[in-house]
Amino acid sequence: MKLGRVLPPAAAPIGAKDIMSGIAGMVGAGSELQRFENELKQTFKVKYCFLVSSGKTALYCILKALHDLHPDKDEVLIPAFNCYCVASAVIRAGLRVRLCDVDENTLEFDLAALKLELDNGKKLLCVVPPHLFGLHAQVQRVKSLVRDLLVAVVEDAAQVMGCSDKGTRLGLQGDVGFFSLGRGKAFSTCEGGIVVTNDDAIGTGVERVVRTLPKYSAPELAALLFKACVIAVFSRPSLFWIPKSLPFLGLGGTYFDAHFPLRTLSGFQAGMSRGWEKRLERFRNRRNENSSKWVSFFNEAGLSRCYSFANHAESAPDLLRFPVRMASAELCAKTISESDGAGLGVTITYPLPLHELPELAGRVSGKFPVAKECAARILTLPVHPYVTEKDMGRIGLLLRRIGA
Ligand SMILES: Cc1ncc(COP(=O)(O)O)c(C=O)c1O
Repeated sequence: MKLGRVLPPAAAPIGAKDIMSGIAGMVGAGSELQRFENELKQTFKVKYCFLVSSGKTALYCILKALHDLHPDKDEVLIPAFNCYCVASAVIRAGLRVRLCDVDENTLEFDLAALKLELDNGKKLLCVVPPHLFGLHAQVQRVKSLVRDLLVAVVEDAAQVMGCSDKGTRLGLQGDVGFFSLGRGKAFSTCEGGIVVTNDDAIGTGVERVVRTLPKYSAPELAALLFKACVIAVFSRPSLFWIPKSLPFLGLGGTYFDAHFPLRTLSGFQAGMSRGWEKRLERFRNRRNENSSKWVSFFNEAGLSRCYSFANHAESAPDLLRFPVRMASAELCAKTISESDGAGLGVTITYPLPLHELPELAGRVSGKFPVAKECAARILTLPVHPYVTEKDMGRIGLLLRRIGA
């Protein structure tokens, strides 16, 4: 167990002021929620916007709405190297997970494999391309591949709220998209999710589903307030060792949980969102500065192959965590273990590909070798606003010593 300075792998700082705004938001919850929704609609120039309790809940609502539109289709195609919670939302919506392998150079769908999957797409309801770690996925390419089918493209922008690609906002390139406001995302209201779409049929469908969701109960709101205070205090590197040393909190892990709560966003979270655009920009600028420093580090160390993802511009903008491909699974495991011992915040991504996840056994079929390789060999370096030059120096030393 490491005492003292311990970096979280990702963090969107929450301050006392945000919590105070949250408490004020509880008082006038209706108008606070309306304000947040209006600001989002205006900024994203989007017709429909729905505020719910998590990214998973946002995806659940989208999937339910799509299934209501096409009850004969029940398969959701997602990359086999992905956040486990995406699969849990599919199962929670009563649908079937279908997997596709990924491209090791982009960490998104392998487009050739995707084409093959689409050829067998009669039961396919939608395709969900994610922007993993902030790497921009080619959503337009995916859209052009599914053009002739009655298959929706759901853009998983959970990790990229506020980012754009060639002038187009991420989250708005598919038929419908969603963001996460969870801990460690681009900015956070402790937990939360947002659905955005300009499609009338999908928008009214999602609205119908969202209307059936309950609000947070009073005890749940109290727990949320407590959680926000804990995150505000204990995400700081000087104190993060305390929650990190309590394994039952499962910090930094990614979990499959098909029983997650489905709620609408509370006035507390809407209140916490006040000033969200400025905060998004401030955090993104800090992450971009740190990402550029990682690029320089790898170039100087002669290790540029480690971070060279094809959809990764030279300056590596918009990353939430800086993905690094290690030469072998052994090196990857060794680096993470040493980082854990020293509290450096280097972390595994998704330890298993989805087809090997015990919770999905019997529910998915196929082998996805590239996804398996990515799960074993890709780790991420922290770039969040708490990371200092000195932290980067220590992580750099570790990478040089181990050899990446
Ligand atoms: C790619 C991706 N999709 C969806 C989600 C779900 O978001 P939430 O944690 O808010 O449920 C996450 C969260 O980690 C994610 O990383």
